[in-house]
Amino acid sequence: MTPHPLILPLPGNESFARDLAAAGGGEVGAVESRRFPDGETYLRLMSPVAGRAVDLVATLAGPDPDFLRLAFAADAARAQGAARVRLIAPYLAYMRQDKAFHPGEAVTSDTFARLVSLLVDGLVTVDPHLHRRAALADLYTIPAAAVQAAPALADWIAAEVERPLLIGPDSESAQWVQAIAERIGAPWAVMEKTRRGDFDVSVELPDLTGRAGHTPVLVDDIASSGRTLIAAAELLAARGLARPVCAVVHALFAGDAYARLKAVVARVVSCDSVPHPSNAIRLAPLVAQAMAALPDRPRT
Ligand code: R5P
Repeated sequence: MTPHPLILPLPGNESFARDLAAAGGGEVGAVESRRFPDGETYLRLMSPVAGRAVDLVATLAGPDPDFLRLAFAADAARAQGAARVRLIAPYLAYMRQDKAFHPGEAVTSDTFARLVSLLVDGLVTVDPHLHRRAALADLYTIPAAAVQAAPALADWIAAEVERPLLIGPDSESAQWVQAIAERIGAPWAVMEKTRRGDFDVSVELPDLTGRAGHTPVLVDDIASSGRTLIAAAELLAARGLARPVCAVVHALFAGDAYARLKAVVARVVSCDSVPHPSNAIRLAPLVAQAMAALPDRPRT
């Protein structure tokens, strides 16, 4: 009988890995990693991988150090005889710089995808920031699945929010706001966003006449500086609407973003793709399904 996949969490991903094993089957192994005094990374696979199908669980919210650790783990697994090595990255970094906006800029999404495609045989992630690219296959040359968090967000909103009015802060968010709204039969709207810099965001609101009795729920894929959601919440307040609930997929929350956002909204919740105090929505069941369905590409 083929043994279950070996699920190897990179440090910080242990809880998600256990949840994956519970949802989809698999044995959870261990990886040890630390920094040498000079800043280099030490890494050791604590579970035998020879002949095993290995799933490395590594969310990439600390993209640069997380990536190097992942590279060492993937390469070590292959060198030690793993039958195949996949990356399970609940949050996939380097998806937003998908074109050169100014002359000379590196298109980091493409470079990052090429590097990851060299390292692993497959990829499962959640709501990657696909904007100008339609699918992961436009960047990644390995089998890759993008899980949609919308059903999990929808179920949480339906259970926790009375008379929700779903609002996306920008046109990109229309895809998941609409999907959630349709699943729970709620009204929805999308703002227009203008971003002038990392911390300089403004939004415009469509006409929400007749929605006064609803609870606004701001839905976005990523909260990074938090400025998008803060600008959206401030505009709702200026228009006399109730303080919104914010539901995000990837809670990156750089610096003091989380504290600033909490100060202007009723509640902030996130999916558990990035470990964060706002985590309230489990993604492992959806990710485990996608892992089971991902076609295998044996290494040559
Ligand atoms: C933008 O395209 C994304 O969907 C998010 O709205 C954006 O990444 C949020 O960033 P921040 O929290 O820095 O405003």
